[in-house]
Amino acid sequence: MPDDLVLAIDQGTSSTKCLLVDPAGAVVASGSAAVPIRYPRPGWVEQDADEILGSVLTAAASCLDGVGRGRVKAVGLSTQRESAVVWDKRTGRPAGPVLGWQDQRAQPVCDALRAKGRASRVRDLSGLPLDPMFSAAKLRWLLDRTPDAAVGTVDSWLVFALTGSHRIESGNASRTQLLDVRAGSWSPELLDLFGIPSTALPEVTPSSGDLGVISERGGVLAGLPITAVLGDSHAALYAHGSQAAGGVKVTYGTGSSVMRLGAVDDPRVCLTVAWNDSLAAEGNIRSSGATVAWLAAFLGLSAGQIGQLAAEASSDGVFLVPGFGGLAAPWWDDTAVGLISGLTLGSTPAQVARAAIESIAHQVTDVIDVMGPADCLLADGGAGGNDVLMQIQADLTGVPVRRARTTNLSALGVAFLAGGRTPPISYDEFRPQPGVFSHQRDAWRSAVARARTPHDGSIA
Ligand code: G3P
Repeated sequence: MPDDLVLAIDQGTSSTKCLLVDPAGAVVASGSAAVPIRYPRPGWVEQDADEILGSVLTAAASCLDGVGRGRVKAVGLSTQRESAVVWDKRTGRPAGPVLGWQDQRAQPVCDALRAKGRASRVRDLSGLPLDPMFSAAKLRWLLDRTPDAAVGTVDSWLVFALTGSHRIESGNASRTQLLDVRAGSWSPELLDLFGIPSTALPEVTPSSGDLGVISERGGVLAGLPITAVLGDSHAALYAHGSQAAGGVKVTYGTGSSVMRLGAVDDPRVCLTVAWNDSLAAEGNIRSSGATVAWLAAFLGLSAGQIGQLAAEASSDGVFLVPGFGGLAAPWWDDTAVGLISGLTLGSTPAQVARAAIESIAHQVTDVIDVMGPADCLLADGGAGGNDVLMQIQADLTGVPVRRARTTNLSALGVAFLAGGRTPPISYDEFRPQPGVFSHQRDAWRSAVARARTPHDGSIA
């Protein structure tokens, strides 16, 4: 048997998925394992580093079961980003909880820097708005409790646990808010502002190449080389291959990631390392699938029922602005609140369901308005499975939405990078119906303005 398969590991917030991918991009086998997540206080989101590692080993073993690892030539690793991990390098044991990317407990660290007038300097160096979603403020909070710990993100924790090397992939590093994004190296000034000792940090490495060989701690993976590591959103962009050149990728998940290759000179979107030396612009939306999940729980329905209701109704002037815990791109306003506007005595759950689905498409359109025109949108992610949402998205942006027929784009993308080939993927296309929804954009912006406290319009 030739060793022609790549084992792709996609370590996400709610689960780890593994795919065995052949050179043509076909999935030969798969496995998955859930990852527990805890919410000990409002705004706190925690995971356990050992449970994350355990989910990787379980999913990999289940994927290889029946296929064997004799045909596996390399491992690619895609991970959730921004989540902050601390561990003891001598024992290899976690030194505290993983603070998830949605965790907002480090808001006071950001507030203190903002009060000192440092927000725009942080943005200029890191390419990111000062915000507790990024790792730096969370790492400050963790180091206040475990001063001697080694620090990293989920990719660096997993690479350390699997190979013994303390490294971080450049795209993941660019999401910490500690990287000088244009230089591609840790910024001494940002380390100083956040109070992070350079000795605690991993070495920044390229996204592909010889990234280490897995040790005995990797169980069934022992002896395999890791040849690619990517942030999950970056991996999804990579999977779209040449399509990505003129398009904008939208991953519809718990939140949404709107990403295009190259820099966009606007402070309302992030500048990020895509992979290796390539830069990308990204707008992060906090609440997409989460909005549907919230409304489903609120109405005592399933997420599928919300989708059905939305397919049957029009919103009729009802808008839902999902500012749960603030709005991210392009507003970056932590004071924004969740809001349903335009209710009348005749309003129905179906209208609110439709408004929830429309809010996802409006937010993505808000980011694309800032990023500049695109030839098409390249859609992926679980919430993108909703045909109604895809059609609304095409209508609002006025460009075709091409939805990947295959799921797990992050795993495929890192498999392609690890294997050195990018086979084409196939799409379903949703074509825009001109003018159908354009009149709703002004009304949406008015609803967003109502969800925000009076604001001077600055981004910092
Ligand atoms: O930025 C956070 C993102 O990387 C998490 O992705 O797929 O685990 O929700 P996911």
